[in-house]
Amino acid sequence: MPKDVPAGYSRMQIILHWAVPVLVVVQFLLGPAMTTVYEGMKTGTPQGLPVLAWLHVGIGFVVLFIACWRVGLRFARGVPAPTFEPQTPEQGFLAFVTHELTFFLYLTILAIPVLGAIGWFYQNDVAASAHASMKYLLILVVAVHVSISLFHQFVLRDGSLDRMRKLRD
Ligand code: HEM
Ligand code: HEM
Repeated sequence: MPKDVPAGYSRMQIILHWAVPVLVVVQFLLGPAMTTVYEGMKTGTPQGLPVLAWLHVGIGFVVLFIACWRVGLRFARGVPAPTFEPQTPEQGFLAFVTHELTFFLYLTILAIPVLGAIGWFYQNDVAASAHASMKYLLILVVAVHVSISLFHQFVLRDGSLDRMRKLRD
C-alpha cells in the first residue's frame, strides 16, 4: 500500500482511465460481429468476419491488461482522497455509493474479458452467455458512475471531473 495519499491522479492513471471507455465502446460495436462468428463456430458452419472477432479478442485483452495495470497503480501509487467530506446523510450515501461502485467498475472490466476468453477459447456457452449478459451490468455501473461524476461537476462543483482530466506528472 502507498505511504502517502497522492494529491491527484497521475498522468498514467488518467490516460488509462480514459482509454477504457473508448475501447469498451469499440467492443460494443464489434459485439454483434463477434456473436455471429461465435455462433458459426458452435454450429460448425462458419459465418461472419473472423477478423472482426479476433479484433474483439485483441481489444478485450488490452482492456484486461489496462484494468490489471490500474489496479496495480491503485495499490502502488494510491488514489487521491474523495473531493468532499460528507456533511449530510445524503452526501454520506453518495460517498458510500461512489466507494462501492469503484469495486463494481473494476469487477466488470476484469471479469468481462476473462469470461469472454473462456467462452471463446474453450467454446464454453455458460461463460460466453455470462460474458454477453454482463454488458448490462457494465452499462448500469458506468451510467451511475457518469451520473455521479456529472453531479460532482455541475452540482457540488468540487473539481472531481477536473482531476481526472488535467494531466499531471
Ligand atoms: C472489456 C472487454 C469486452 C467487452 C466490453 C465485450 C463486449 C461484448 C459484447 C457487447 C458482446 C455482444 C453480446 C451480445 O450480442 O449480446 C460480446 C460478445 C462476445 N465476446 Fe466480448 N467483450 C470483451 C472482451 C472479450 C474477450 C477478451 C473475448 C475473448 C477472448 C470476448 C469474447 C466474446 C464472445 C465469444 C462473444 C459472443 C458471446 C455470445 O454471443 O454468446 N470478448 N462481447
Ligand atoms: C468503462 C467506463 C469507465 C470505467 C470502467 C471507469 C472507472 C473508474 C474508476 C474505477 C474510477 C476510480 C479511480 C480509479 O481507481 O482509477 C474512476 C474515476 C473517475 N471517473 Fe471513470 N470510468 C469509466 C468512464 C467514465 C466516464 C465516461 C466519465 C465521465 C464523466 C468518468 C469520470 C470519472 C471521474 C471524474 C473520476 C474521478 C473521480 C474522483 O476521484 O474524484 N469515468 N473511473
